[in-house]
Amino acid sequence: MNQKNGKNSLGLDSCFEDLENPIDLFKKWFSKAKETEINDPDAVAVATSDKKNQPNVRMVLLKEFSDKGFVFYTNFNSKKGDELKSNQKASMCFHWKSLRRQIRIFSSLERKRKEYCQIV
Ligand SMILES: Cc1cc2nc3c(=O)[nH]c(=O)nc-3n(C[C@H](O)[C@H](O)[C@H](O)COP(=O)(O)O)c2cc1C
Repeated sequence: MNQKNGKNSLGLDSCFEDLENPIDLFKKWFSKAKETEINDPDAVAVATSDKKNQPNVRMVLLKEFSDKGFVFYTNFNSKKGDELKSNQKASMCFHWKSLRRQIRIFSSLERKRKEYCQIV
């Protein structure tokens, strides 16, 4: 890390550090957010879209995460449940105001157990 100009080896802001695995960066930032956010550091916006490609976004709470993906709880008898059936593409955005940081995740949703979804 080049401390002089505040950039990492990729030329990105030093807050991104030199971590090769984005999950490792998420882990560090999430852990910091748990210390600094007033509430709900695990709150994340999840965007899906309907059959007409109309995007739809709502907040959920992150249940767990790993290299395999990000898991949240949901009722499948819901708009997001319906949208998931027709289009598995989705994205998530965490925003931690206290850190002035966001993390965006673009991927596909998978239905896991009865009422869990995982973005992979
Ligand atoms: C802070 C916050 C956390 C929420 N967490 C969840 C959650 O974990 N799972 C969930 O299904 N809905 C959660 N909700 C409600 C959703 O935002 C949404 O209103 C609901 O799931 C219906 O969405 P849908 O009609 O698009 O399916 C949360 C709302 C807020 C404001």
